Amino acid sequence: MHHFHYRNGTLHAEDVAVSDIADAVGTPFYCYSTATLERHYKVLAAALPAGTLIAFAVKANGSLAVIRTLARLGAGADIVSGGELKRAIAGGVPASKIVFSGVGKTREEVGLALSHGILQFNAESEEELAVISEVATSRGQKASVALRINPDVDARTHAKISTGKAENKFGIAWHRAEAAYAQAAGLPGIDVAGVDMHIGSQITEIEPFREAFGKLAGLVRRLRSQGMRIKRIDLGGGLGVPYTKGDEPPLPASYGEVVRAVFAGLDADLIVEPGRLITANAGILVSRVVHVKRGDQRTFVILDAGMNDLVRPAMYDAHHDIIPVREPEKSENRVYDVVGPVCESADQFARNLALPPLSADELVAILSAGAYGAVQASSYNARPLVPEVLVSGRHFAVTRPRQTVEEMIARERMPDWLG
Ligand code: LLP
Repeated sequence: MHHFHYRNGTLHAEDVAVSDIADAVGTPFYCYSTATLERHYKVLAAALPAGTLIAFAVKANGSLAVIRTLARLGAGADIVSGGELKRAIAGGVPASKIVFSGVGKTREEVGLALSHGILQFNAESEEELAVISEVATSRGQKASVALRINPDVDARTHAKISTGKAENKFGIAWHRAEAAYAQAAGLPGIDVAGVDMHIGSQITEIEPFREAFGKLAGLVRRLRSQGMRIKRIDLGGGLGVPYTKGDEPPLPASYGEVVRAVFAGLDADLIVEPGRLITANAGILVSRVVHVKRGDQRTFVILDAGMNDLVRPAMYDAHHDIIPVREPEKSENRVYDVVGPVCESADQFARNLALPPLSADELVAILSAGAYGAVQASSYNARPLVPEVLVSGRHFAVTRPRQTVEEMIARERMPDWLG
């Protein structure tokens, strides 16, 4: 579900013509829809048991305006760095709704999070438990901690975004869970508050969730029978989204049903950490065709956006639908390879894509780019980070202006000896 549609022959983001934004900010740019963000949040909230904390995974989209849009609806934040903590706070998320995940939290980051009084640390190892305890004790605090347990479940998603198998670096091994809780209970700076899991991303079947949730619920019962006070259960994120026609990941409603079925009666506060589900289809990357290049064997549509702006196709073989901004007339499609200008063969958005005939200077929109898009951008090939724009109804605002090459250069320092 999203709010990017053709109207009067041209693509609109809600009530704003995408070409008007392009005229104002140039290309490429990311464009997010408030209505889509809100709808996704509300659909998920309605599907989950009342009171479940939706801690938006800031890693999916770090835009302060996006974070604030969600915070206003009641969202918390799942963060994985001190930087994301600062972003979440700047976006208006109360510290009391922030959970801190990630395998490599430094002492400084733990201290920063304690100083803000976040809801919970999701500790990913026995080693980390010791560090959190030490930092908390030195500050005269107790850290509220859930242990991220790796349930050893196959999420059946792309290997690079699968996290819940024993071979993955994430979480505490399933067979060591109870021993880790015993360790945590004995640490002076730790207040054991809950359990946590996250098995992967873009999960398109319900079964891996059912299996992992079931294991986790069993663990909660065992821990409680050992006298451990487990008041929170954090289920992580991972629910997949449709990237193209025919993709049918489980709906939030089915996910919610499984959550209810498994955790009803456990009397715990539930937390989820969705990222992609909320923002992926709420964002597009708008780009202009630089050339249509007829190669010997293939025809290349060369865009002014590249893998540095959206790395998902190059990195995860991800598919993103691409559509022209001008509504195509009924005509024969052509077959194109859609590529960027970056000097890498991997800089390719789509291969053998059937598209209406395109020509230089036309605008296209790369869809479903609102999650793991702008946040994973780089300035490779000295290409500045592109603007982010938020639309709401008839309005749009540039929430992050285009970086300039001058700014990039000005940040550097020449060593004395080079003059
Ligand atoms: N919680 C934790 C601990 C995570 O590691 C992640 C994502 C999430 C929540 C949110 O997962 P989501 O609901 O968005 O699936 N860059 C990759 C995806 C990496 C996901 C990393 N962890 C991509 O573009 O596909």
